[in-house]
Amino acid sequence: MRAYIASTAFFVPPNRVTNDDLVSQFHIDTTNDWIVQRTGIEARHFADDGVGPSDLAEPAARDAIARAGLQKDDIDMIVFATLSPEHAFPGSGCYLQAKLGLVGVPAMDVRNQCSGFLYALASAKGFVESGLAKNVLVVGGEKHSAGLDLSTAGRTVACLFGDGAGAVVVRGTDDPERGIRWMNLGADGRFADSLSQKVWDSRHRPFVKKDPETGKHVVPADMMWANMDGKVVFKNAVEKMILSVMGMCMENGIEATDLDLVVCHQANMRINEFVRDQLGLPADKVPNNIQKYGNTTAATIPILLAELERDGRLKPGMKVALVGFGSGFTWGSAYLVW
Ligand code: UT7
Repeated sequence: MRAYIASTAFFVPPNRVTNDDLVSQFHIDTTNDWIVQRTGIEARHFADDGVGPSDLAEPAARDAIARAGLQKDDIDMIVFATLSPEHAFPGSGCYLQAKLGLVGVPAMDVRNQCSGFLYALASAKGFVESGLAKNVLVVGGEKHSAGLDLSTAGRTVACLFGDGAGAVVVRGTDDPERGIRWMNLGADGRFADSLSQKVWDSRHRPFVKKDPETGKHVVPADMMWANMDGKVVFKNAVEKMILSVMGMCMENGIEATDLDLVVCHQANMRINEFVRDQLGLPADKVPNNIQKYGNTTAATIPILLAELERDGRLKPGMKVALVGFGSGFTWGSAYLVW
């Protein structure tokens, strides 16, 4: 038996924030041209105050379960990938489990940032193929907007990220062709500080520092917001994503040009264009939707899969590669026959 993705679904909050809105609403010193030229991003969606990643995940999860032809009680495992959980603990998977009314069903979080969906998918594949679970709900959900410095000081990071969730149901199939045929995951913790958010710092008691002048506990700006060495992340993302797909092709005895679709993590359109050019693939085989949603981290790949399936661009029998890279550094890839 081999695991396969039985359904795809996504949800983004209704509030669409364009690049021009970053200037007019948040008074960030940036321009639509700068953001589009450097990243390809035209807009992102921001969830309202009080909404968390499990709230965004709930409609996507319900839709994915329905599209798999299942009832919610058929789900026997939840794997929730996020870097923006409601709280440091417990995980967002537990909050989602309660919202879905799935008391008793195991729920775990995967904290592997932009590679989170691929790490979660590999976990689900393992659960299904080992017989530990039959129908695994795999979610990538992020509420980034709460963790962005939406001022000119934070503009390099703030213009990149958006909120949203994607969900898939992973099940088993006896079809000898179909399914998640191969996966590879990697990490290089030497770059852990190149992209991080350190607001929760258990190395110190208390977690937040005391201002010596006021005696009040404060969170300094460099801990509150995400920090990124953009150029180092960019260079490593291009390198690791290209090598991941090339390794995948070698291991599976195929050429990159045999792939019908390469579904890349959506961090920067220029990263994905480098990957596409190096693999010698035409634009329609390496689709992007970063224009609309920005980087939704663990949610980018399942959101893009859902859109491609709705548009009729992702069809049964297609050879599909998934590939992602992010904070940690972490990366991963998957070879599927859809
Ligand atoms: O999933 C993984 C997550 N992240 C990524 O994959 C991101 C990877 N990195 C990147 O995508 C790019 O590094 C960025 C798009 C974030 C930045 O592009 P860059 O070409 O590396 O720009 P930079 O940070 O070196 O900044 C160049 C200039 C600076 O001005 P000066 O010092 O040359 O005068 C910045 O202050 O652009 C300025 N700048 C901006 N200007 C207008 C930075 N952000 C902005 C902005 N609007 N939003």
